[in-house]
Amino acid sequence: MTSRFEGKVAFITGGSRGIGRGITQRFAEEGAKVAIIDVNEEALSEAEKVLKDQGFEVYTKIANVVQAEEVETAMKKTVEKFGSLDILVNNAGVLRDNLLFKMTDSDWQTVIDVHLKGSFNAARAAQKYMVDNKYGRIINISSTSALGNRGQANYAAVKAGLQGLTKTLAIELGKFGITANAVAPGFIETEMTKSTAKRLGITFEELVKASVSKIPVNRSGKPEDIANAVTFFADEKSSFVNGQVIYVAGGPKD
Ligand SMILES: NC(=O)c1ccc[n+]([C@@H]2O[C@H](COP(=O)([O-])OP(=O)(O)OC[C@H]3O[C@@H](n4cnc5c(N)ncnc54)[C@H](O)[C@@H]3O)[C@@H](O)[C@H]2O)c1
Repeated sequence: MTSRFEGKVAFITGGSRGIGRGITQRFAEEGAKVAIIDVNEEALSEAEKVLKDQGFEVYTKIANVVQAEEVETAMKKTVEKFGSLDILVNNAGVLRDNLLFKMTDSDWQTVIDVHLKGSFNAARAAQKYMVDNKYGRIINISSTSALGNRGQANYAAVKAGLQGLTKTLAIELGKFGITANAVAPGFIETEMTKSTAKRLGITFEELVKASVSKIPVNRSGKPEDIANAVTFFADEKSSFVNGQVIYVAGGPKD
C-alpha cells in the first residue's frame, strides 16, 4: 500500500464493524491516523486492539452521533491527540425497517436521528477544525435505498436527505478547501444485512443469493468496495470533485 494519507487524520463514525471498519482499515493502511466513535463498546475495543496490534495510530471513543456534545468531545480529543481532523466519514447507521402501515414513530425517529442528526452533528463539529485548517474531506454514506425501497420509508428518506446535505456542505464549505461527497452502497455483506435476513425469516446465504441475482457484476459487495470509493473522495488530489454521489452497487442500482 502507498501512503497517500500520511499526515492526515480520519474520523469515522460507526467505524468499529462492517463498512465503517473496512473504511478505517483502509485509511490506516494508507498512512492516516484514525479516530473511531461508536456505541458498540465490545466491537469498538476489539477494533482498537486489532488496529493497534497492526501498529496503527488509533483513537477510539464511545460516543453516540445523535448527541452533539459527545461528538464534539470526541473530535476535540482527536485533534488534541493527533493535531488535526482532515477527513470525516459519516457512516454510523441503523435500520428500523417496516412497511409504512406498521412503521412506528420510534422506527421513524430513530433512523432520522442516527443518520441525519448524527451526520449533521459530526459535519458541524468537524467544519470548525477544517475551516481553520483550510482543508477537509467529508464523505457521507448514503445508499441505493435513497432511490426508494420497500419497507424502508424512514431509511430511504434519510439516505436521500444525506445526498441533499452533502451537496449543501459542498456549496457552503468549498471555498475553505473542504469537499463533501457521498458514497451510496448497494448490497454489502455486514451485520446490518445479516439482520435484514433475520427479519425476513431467511438465511443470510439465501439473502445474498437473491441479492446477487439482481447485481450486474454477479457478486455481493464487501466493505472494501466502499472503502475504495471513500478513499477516492478523501484523496487530496480529488479537490475538484465536490458535491457528488457515487453509487457503488455492482451496477446502476441493486
Ligand atoms: N450493508 C449494506 O448493505 C449497506 C448498504 C447501503 C448503505 N449502508 C450504510 O452503511 C453504513 C454502515 O452500515 P453497515 O452495513 O456497516 O452496518 P453495521 O450495523 O455493521 O455497522 C454500523 C455501525 O454504526 C454504529 N452505530 C449505530 N448507531 C450509532 C450511533 N448512534 N452512534 C455511533 N455509532 C453508531 C454501530 O454500532 C455499528 O458499529 C450505514 O450508514 C448504512 O446505512 C449499508
